[in-house]
Amino acid sequence: MAEPALFSAEYLSPEVQAALPEGYKLRALRRTDYDSGFLDCLRVLTTVGDISKEQWEERYDWIARQDGSYFILVVEDTNTSPPRIVGTGALLAERKFIHNLGSVGHIEDIAVAKDQQGKKLGLRIIQALDYIAKRVGCYKTILDCSEHNEGFYVKCGFRRAGLEMAHYH
Ligand code: ACO
Repeated sequence: MAEPALFSAEYLSPEVQAALPEGYKLRALRRTDYDSGFLDCLRVLTTVGDISKEQWEERYDWIARQDGSYFILVVEDTNTSPPRIVGTGALLAERKFIHNLGSVGHIEDIAVAKDQQGKKLGLRIIQALDYIAKRVGCYKTILDCSEHNEGFYVKCGFRRAGLEMAHYH
């Protein structure tokens, strides 16, 4: 039996799975992914820090309790032994009062391992998150990115809208 995952496989796009390179698998994050390449993927994006296994499990359990709101998916390369996570992305579904109880999807923490970039994995991850957003009923999906990545998101079907403001604490 497959290990328990953060969310049900019904949220995984069959089209995206079919479009991945041979041996690459789209799946939900698992509690057992502590040392399967997931955190190393995120290190391509930003500082992750030195997270212990206990801290990992605590945070994973918290995310898992956000029932139907917090989706983290990964692309795993099963051609290697052991298999390695080579890409990841997250979607947070924000339930609102406005727009007749509408929901907005927030795309976060997209990262593809350095040696795997340029294989369309980033594009597939965004398509897979868009699939989840539609299934959950989001009327739009938004994200923040640097100028450097604007071209990537345009290729993924996004367009510049609005202005990001930040207040760091
Ligand atoms: N600028 C312009 N175009 C780009 C860029 C870029 N920075 N990166 C990729 N593209 C283009 C590709 O050339 C490709 O175009 P094509 O269809 O004409 O061939 C298309 O976008 C799809 O590219 P992918 O191969 O899917 O990109 P990749 O798998 O390398 O993933 C990503 C792109 C996620 C930006 C990756 O380079 C990465 O992990 N970077 C470091 C972390 C990062 O910056 N993540 C995004 C943070 S923003 C956020 O998380 C919301």
